[in-house]
Amino acid sequence: MKINDNLILKKLINKYSHLREKSSNKYPLASNPFEMKDIIEGCKVLLSGRITMSSITKKFEKEFAKYLGIKHALMVNSGSSANLLAFFALINPKNKKKIFNNDECIIPALCWSTSLWPIVQAGLKPKFVDIDPNTLNLDLYKVQKAITKKTKAILAVHILGNSTDMNKLKKIVDKNNLTLIEDTCESLGSRYNKKHLGTFGRFGTYSFYISHQITSGEGGMIVCNKDEDYDLIHKLRAHGWDRGINKKNDKSFNFVNSGFNLRPLDLTAAIGYSQFKRLNLMKRNRAKNRGKIINSLKNSNLWNNQFQFLEPIKNLEPSWFGLPIILNKKYKNKKKQYLKKLNKKGIETRPIISGNFLNQPSVKLYKLNQNKHKFKNAQDIEDRGFFIGLQTELISLNKLKFLSQTLLNSL
Ligand SMILES: Cc1ncc(COP(=O)(O)O)c(C=O)c1O
Repeated sequence: MKINDNLILKKLINKYSHLREKSSNKYPLASNPFEMKDIIEGCKVLLSGRITMSSITKKFEKEFAKYLGIKHALMVNSGSSANLLAFFALINPKNKKKIFNNDECIIPALCWSTSLWPIVQAGLKPKFVDIDPNTLNLDLYKVQKAITKKTKAILAVHILGNSTDMNKLKKIVDKNNLTLIEDTCESLGSRYNKKHLGTFGRFGTYSFYISHQITSGEGGMIVCNKDEDYDLIHKLRAHGWDRGINKKNDKSFNFVNSGFNLRPLDLTAAIGYSQFKRLNLMKRNRAKNRGKIINSLKNSNLWNNQFQFLEPIKNLEPSWFGLPIILNKKYKNKKKQYLKKLNKKGIETRPIISGNFLNQPSVKLYKLNQNKHKFKNAQDIEDRGFFIGLQTELISLNKLKFLSQTLLNSL
């Protein structure tokens, strides 16, 4: 695109800037994350007349894999789809380390809906394990106790940028000959011992939904190291087709496996890739904002240990998603009222993922906890925890004052 064309596009984007969604909240969970260049990259794809998956998706995948230091990355239309591919790859006849119907997969009680459902949809049995309240991730002691002969996989969910002790988790996985899947949908850019979360297991999955570390509106990525795994998820992503993967085959409509259609658009890939180039900057800004907010709260004369904050586990360089806040025990019964007040005053909040997932009606519908196991720590996080957003631009002094005073005054 020529410089002149770019100027015309910029003028047009400015002209229609009033249409851009603005939050009515003073401190929303996420501000509008799209910069002019993201929109221009999206416009270029629209103007090209081909918005379906093509060369930009491929380029984004290559750069994403390079950044993570992994061999393969495959873009899909959401993080949920990435999780779906991971579990359907495990039960596929092409998987050498095949996993069978009713084999168990360990999953933390604090998880997202589509961390869980792909396990069930693939015919496996989820085995819930409680979290460690200090990391909000799997309690590894309890993981060890939960492993039986039927256990074949562990799904680690890296919560809001944090992880468990990955060395320990890897040891447990290797010792018991298990398969590790990492749901990294909330933690793109976090590194444990300088190695990216999502690259420790067989598959790592990422989400580019709004407010995540980068966003393309909808979108996701699945990564792996083995060629045969990449080959498999590539086919499962689109109809079980070997198109784009089997260069030797001259038959163009060759369906070699079962499949879905989970392809992204080149349109979303272009926006996601444009954002991806700023990932490190946005990661630094979120970390600075987190530090400023916590300091501002702790240095206030109203501070009386009302809140606890999630600290990164040792050896982790976190890429924060949001700022989880755990109310002091004595405020537990006031949480509902408190959040109502905050929302009224313009601070948007949400549960930490979706709280103790065992409380969700869908779990009852599918009778996934017939033994009525209790998950004390996940429940405590549901009872006392919530999170606020961390914006990708540096927070202004005014906003910081408003935020910390409102958080402390409303309790
Ligand atoms: C831990 C986790 N897994 C999976 C997902 C699903 O990602 P998506 O919304 O892109 O489908 C999310 C969404 O926020 C998530 O937080």
